[in-house]
Amino acid sequence: MIVDFSDLSSARVYQWMTQSVIPRPIAWVLSSNAEGAADPYNLAPFSYFTAVSSAPPTVIFSAGRKSEDAFKDSYVNVSERRHCVINIASAGQMAAVTETSRTLPYGESELSRAGLELTDFEGFHLPRVAGSPIAFACEYLQTIEVGPSPQMLVLCEVKQLYVDNAVMTVDDKGRPLIDALKADPLCRLGGGQYASLGEVFTLPRPS
Ligand SMILES: Cc1cc2nc3c(=O)[nH]c(=O)nc-3n(C[C@H](O)[C@H](O)[C@H](O)COP(=O)(O)O)c2cc1C
Repeated sequence: MIVDFSDLSSARVYQWMTQSVIPRPIAWVLSSNAEGAADPYNLAPFSYFTAVSSAPPTVIFSAGRKSEDAFKDSYVNVSERRHCVINIASAGQMAAVTETSRTLPYGESELSRAGLELTDFEGFHLPRVAGSPIAFACEYLQTIEVGPSPQMLVLCEVKQLYVDNAVMTVDDKGRPLIDALKADPLCRLGGGQYASLGEVFTLPRPS
């Protein structure tokens, strides 16, 4: 079948996009709320997310609007306070990830509701989510606005990478390697579906 996007509502296009671009990694974005907020940190998942460059090491996530007249809290925090920690949740953290996607009033944290603990990110001023095997300490770079709503594409430079030692191994040349199956990252599919990794294949790139 062919799906012509020009005739479809944005809600239908969203369904097709999120069911066809699969699996997607999830940026579990921890950001700092404005001073005086009830909770110091905000946490929310974004699966329009990927790495886009290694020099500088750059990732992008895309935030829609919270309402007609408000941006999502993560976008407000990251663009105003210019730092965030992007956690890669393990499959076992799926319920907590969805719990942190609730729309709450600004400054109210999803963290306590999800029963999550934060822990120090060594060498960075923001914490990371305890139990997530991988986390990126990020500095805000810029926003690209697309579409009429607009959708905010947030570019962040990765300053430091955290990897749980328990998921580290070495490859056949003795170089450090993240054991993907041990890291067990939560993958996003369409609708209400998620996945974990099934099988890992190794195939050297042709020279
Ligand atoms: C797995 C998952 C992935 C999501 N991905 C996105 C996304 O890519 N972009 C987006 O705007 N919202 C996404 N959402 C919805 C946001 O997480 C939700 O709007 C959240 O309340 C935003 O929180 P904030 O206002 O604290 O930033 C996703 C939700 C879930 C459960």
